[in-house]
Amino acid sequence: MGTLLYPEPKTKPGLYDWLDERLGISDVIALAKHKTVPQHRHSFWYYWGGLSLFFFIIQLFTGILLLVYFRPGKDAYDSVRQITYDIDFGWLIRSVHSWSANLMVFAVCVHMFSAFFMKAYQKPREFAWWSGLVLLLLTLVFGFSGYLLPMDELSFVATKIGLQFSNMIPVVGPVLADLIRGGPQVSPDTVQRFFALHVVVLPLLFLPLLMFHLFLVQKHGNASPPGEESRPASEKQTMPFFPNFFAMDLGMWLIALNVITILATLFPWDLGPQADPLASAPNGIHPEWYFMPPFHLLKIIGRFVPGVTGELLGMGLFAAVLIFWTLVPLFDPKGKAGRAGRFVTWGGVLVLSGMILLIALGYADLGYTHL
Ligand code: HEM
Repeated sequence: MGTLLYPEPKTKPGLYDWLDERLGISDVIALAKHKTVPQHRHSFWYYWGGLSLFFFIIQLFTGILLLVYFRPGKDAYDSVRQITYDIDFGWLIRSVHSWSANLMVFAVCVHMFSAFFMKAYQKPREFAWWSGLVLLLLTLVFGFSGYLLPMDELSFVATKIGLQFSNMIPVVGPVLADLIRGGPQVSPDTVQRFFALHVVVLPLLFLPLLMFHLFLVQKHGNASPPGEESRPASEKQTMPFFPNFFAMDLGMWLIALNVITILATLFPWDLGPQADPLASAPNGIHPEWYFMPPFHLLKIIGRFVPGVTGELLGMGLFAAVLIFWTLVPLFDPKGKAGRAGRFVTWGGVLVLSGMILLIALGYADLGYTHL
């Protein structure tokens, strides 16, 4: 166990006492000090949950600023053009929002895979895993709905193609796609719907779920990877969460802020020509990198098994991976090391390398080098 960095002041200021009596601040500090973080050679991966949180906070902050000028519906493109070229620093806020969205998806994926390989889904953290998966799903829907909002050529066609995936779901798929689009075509009505989803529905779902996720982490603490857990207690090292680990978290946030600033200023987010529903799709159209794995998987399968059979095969394979990923806490329960545990770990290696490969092949296929 670590030692306190700051000794308790002998005489507390009157204001602190006054607030503490009413708000219970010392209880919260005691709770934060109670939590410790395991220290071992894989501890670096514990920062990625906090980094996901940081990018989400940036999204909230820049999203509210964008709301000041964004107008959904028919005016969407014009308002984004105004934000990008006319409003002071509008381009910067838009660029930070778009880059941070991508970095958030990246951080959440790293966080998920590190939780997976540390077997942090095992008892008693099953609900941290499941709530995390729903947070990932919501993050992806945030990305998908936000992508359309500028209504430029690329976002229009990518959304059109993205919604065709829904058509592949038997029976309910086409009805669902019409409902999401607000008609048979992507139109200003779709932008209006996506806007409501992006700024009202998703935050309302995301925030309480995030609180639940963080509450569970506070309750159970961080999991150690299996190799570290089996060490004798005398060899295990920990660090107090507050203030030590928290200070390191803030250091990582500062690095992340620098990364966003460099990307957003050196590579300002582009705005293409306005979407034209009658024009043919421009060359090299592609989804965001995080939707590339299912998109490219279907493309590859379609080359070998064309038509509906290929589509169903692709969707089936994708659904099987999703089910494996969701139910992994049940396949690989705590204390049952051996074959099942190794099978699950290799399953994770396969999923991770498959995703990286599909993204790389997807971009290579498009002739793209810039993600
Ligand atoms: C979408 C945003 C997310 C945020 C903001 C978030 C935030 C956090 C934070 C701050 C922690 C504590 C620090 C750490 O262990 O890294 C944590 C822990 C955890 N998260 Fe997430 N998380 C998110 C998504 C996910 C996803 C997608 C999964 C997996 C499916 C997941 C599974 C877990 C698990 C199992 C823990 C406990 C880790 C441990 O015991 O070491 N989280 N999360």
